[in-house]
Amino acid sequence: MPPRGSSFNSKMGGKRAEKPLKTLLRLFRYFKHCTGILTVAILSILAYSLASNFAVFETQKLVKTLETSVGADMAKYTGVLIGMAILYAIAAFTNFLLNRLMLSCSARVMCALRKEMFEKMQSLPIAFFDGRTHGELMSYYTNDTEAVNELLHHSITQMLISVTSLVFIFGLMTALSIPVIFIMICMGLTVFYVMRGVTRQSRKNFKKQQRELAGLNGYIEEMMEGQKVVKVFTHEEAARANFKVHNDELCKVATDANTFASIVGPLMNNISHIFYAITCTVGVLLAAPVEGQPFLLEGTFLAEQPLLLVESSKLIASLNFVRQVSNRISQISQQFNSILLALAGAERIFALVDTPAEVDEGTVTLVRVEAKDGRLTETDRRTGRWAWKRGDELIPLRGEVRFNDVDFSYDGKKQVLTDVTLYAHPGQKIAFVGSTGAGKTTITNLINRFYDITDGTITYDGIPVREIKKSALRSSLGMVLQDTHLFSGTVMDNIRYGRLDATDEECIEAAKIANADFFISHLPEGYETQLVADGANLSQGQRQLLAIARAAVSDPPVLILDEATSSIDTRTEKHIEKGMDALMHGRTVFVIAHRLSTVRNSDCIMVLENGRIIERGDHDALLRERGKYYELCTGTSELS
Ligand SMILES: Nc1ncnc2c1ncn2[C@@H]1O[C@H](COP(=O)(O)OP(=O)(O)OP(=O)(O)O)[C@@H](O)[C@H]1O
Ligand SMILES: [Mg+2]
Repeated sequence: MPPRGSSFNSKMGGKRAEKPLKTLLRLFRYFKHCTGILTVAILSILAYSLASNFAVFETQKLVKTLETSVGADMAKYTGVLIGMAILYAIAAFTNFLLNRLMLSCSARVMCALRKEMFEKMQSLPIAFFDGRTHGELMSYYTNDTEAVNELLHHSITQMLISVTSLVFIFGLMTALSIPVIFIMICMGLTVFYVMRGVTRQSRKNFKKQQRELAGLNGYIEEMMEGQKVVKVFTHEEAARANFKVHNDELCKVATDANTFASIVGPLMNNISHIFYAITCTVGVLLAAPVEGQPFLLEGTFLAEQPLLLVESSKLIASLNFVRQVSNRISQISQQFNSILLALAGAERIFALVDTPAEVDEGTVTLVRVEAKDGRLTETDRRTGRWAWKRGDELIPLRGEVRFNDVDFSYDGKKQVLTDVTLYAHPGQKIAFVGSTGAGKTTITNLINRFYDITDGTITYDGIPVREIKKSALRSSLGMVLQDTHLFSGTVMDNIRYGRLDATDEECIEAAKIANADFFISHLPEGYETQLVADGANLSQGQRQLLAIARAAVSDPPVLILDEATSSIDTRTEKHIEKGMDALMHGRTVFVIAHRLSTVRNSDCIMVLENGRIIERGDHDALLRERGKYYELCTGTSELS
């Protein structure tokens, strides 16, 4: 089994992001959802940085007071200490406040981001979902959003504190020592170039890590879903081996990513030690003259430059600032892991958000109508009659579907349908039979426009389906898909999914038509029984009965039943038949079934082979033809 992650990589993440800054700025734009909180948080950050760094600046006053008036002027000494205590108290409070504010800010941004992602996913074409595993899709909402969340509520705060502190420190340093500022600038530049080198490598690896993680999630999810099949074919060992391939790959890229990122911390420490030592040396060399002490620079050019000389009290404060600067830079570098990870996650999220939505060029809508003086007029009343609205024209919804020379290919290479021509008059029951993979489901995918045709035309009540708004088109079709899907919720909720404003009575009536009422009444809580994950507590046939009830409640003019009764025993199917016949009465119905007894009474049966209709006609006519249908029938025990 090929690793699923690899196919995903080529689809979504293969493109290397070249613009981390652009991604970051785009992420920042989401702060518009909390501008008020953000403003207070930024003010708190400024207050924190100013207070904490001013306290450090005050150490020079403390040293000076100690040097000049120790014992003599206790009040002055205490005053400086109290001032410093107040500054640290302000720093502590604003630090607490800004952390709280950034937390709520990031929660809002994440909320908006998740909303945008989910809304986008709802607007994406079926082709997007057909090509991805659930695990890969879930990865956007788990790993990627978690990484971005970490950036927003933690790393950004730390970065802002560090950057504003650096600005304040450089400002305060101008009052202390010009040479030390120069040393600090050198330190900053060194760090910048080192970090730039490391970042380039790490960013690539973090992106790979997020992709591999999504691939691994996809694989785990697939194995969990298919656990029964794995066990039946005793493929546990193979599953384990495949998992190992994914897991080892993730381990490798995660190590690569973190190796580069983790050398940043120690590297920064060493750089800061070196610059601390350089500052000490320069400070001692440039020490300002002190009474009674020999002056190192006596008689030199530097002795004439008072701006370059450093007093001992200022040197101590400067050294403290060098420590502060290196701490701040080190904090920035420590945030690098999560920033790079978050940018990788954000890039994947934005790639998703930027995926083109399902195009809908249709303008024709579906409206409720009533007949007034022999003419159709639009109404809000529930008349049970519908019409297509094209401009000002109202075309009655009858359910006539026509295919003219339709060709189709999913991937642009392999032709799946060729020259399909058919028509279904309102109220007719049209059946598709044919071997597996012949293209039956594909035809229904084209009627509801899950996919668009390559060539030919499909019309609905004489209107090309491309001109009909997809939502209008789909709401006029009741579908029972080949793969039934039930949602977590009660049985009643699941039936009502067909039409959200249906009453309980209408849902029960639909369940009776589908012959589901019998088994539902035997469930512990009847219609209020909770269904677990995709109806796992129901049999396959029971799930299909609920899917039929769901289609019945939607009360559409056109019904499409794709193997709707394939898991239902023939006796129950016979029971449903009556209800179904009543349901189908007056509607156009497309039925797909391998069990030929299901399609026997159709007005027209289309026999498909390799995407072409090779025979058509009613049951008797086709039997007389003695062609493929005849072969299918005589080879089917149920019909014998
Ligand atoms: N999403 C898809 N992407 C690419 N190819 C697809 C997709 N869905 C189906 N196909 C291909 O289109 C062909 C027709 O598939 P389709 O599902 O229409 O068959 P079918 O007649 O409904 O078969 P069955 O009786 O097994 O349900 C098959 O060869 C299949 O491999
Ligand atoms: Mg099918």
